[in-house]
Amino acid sequence: MIDISEFAGFELFLEEDGTLVFGPGVISPKAQPRKFEELTPVLLYPNQTGPEVLYLMYRDTGLEKDRNAIINAGLRFDITVIYPGKIGSEYVKTFGHYHPMAPGQMFTYPEVYQVLYGKAHFLLQKGGDITGEVEDFVVADYGPGDILLIPPFYGHATVNPGDSPLVMANWIARNFSSVYEPIRVRKGMTYYNVEYKNQTIFMPNDSYSRHPKPRLEEPKNLDEFGLKQGKSMYKSWQRGANLNFLVKPSLYQKVWRAMGIQPIEHH
Ligand SMILES: [Fe+2]
Repeated sequence: MIDISEFAGFELFLEEDGTLVFGPGVISPKAQPRKFEELTPVLLYPNQTGPEVLYLMYRDTGLEKDRNAIINAGLRFDITVIYPGKIGSEYVKTFGHYHPMAPGQMFTYPEVYQVLYGKAHFLLQKGGDITGEVEDFVVADYGPGDILLIPPFYGHATVNPGDSPLVMANWIARNFSSVYEPIRVRKGMTYYNVEYKNQTIFMPNDSYSRHPKPRLEEPKNLDEFGLKQGKSMYKSWQRGANLNFLVKPSLYQKVWRAMGIQPIEHH
């Protein structure tokens, strides 16, 4: 068992088989496995073999004593374990999805991730739903303690390019369902992350007609939201970080505009 409590913000252990053991006083959700068969619509090589289970989702955890405060804030804290491995030359990854518009808001829901253990390639893309074309593609090559904001309007998937399980946590608004269909229709994100001659490379997905050059994102502090790189984002929330931007993104228009993200006006 590996102790991964430091960035989790509560007692948490990773077992040899990739499952998580939650410490005393921690809500222990049932693992929801995502199987190989479920991912075939978005794989580069759906006819190759791979691990039977690609990743495990533990949704809605946190300390029992924080439960009411998390719910009252409209938030949810999830942990995902992505197994190492490849399907053909493509690394194991999550399905990928977009987030819906927040009701009464001019933005889709954002999200925030932190790597707890292992190595992650977060892939983000703006645009590229059923009608649009992708206008920005981002790769974040992150390790333990690194925090990544998924801004409004970005679809995202996570790749495990490493040799060990990748464990990551996310804070997100608790009352919405992700939108998987645009990613399914396009057979994945704009690029596939594959291994080629011992290098990690990004192969364009032909289902998209535009392939903006992948832009590398470096970890940066999210001062406006009280989150610091290398500090547990669960603990930061406990200590008063205001995560209301996840629920009411329109209140943070200035922040989004500074990132070049414009609101969608309602009709
Ligand atoms: Fe998401």
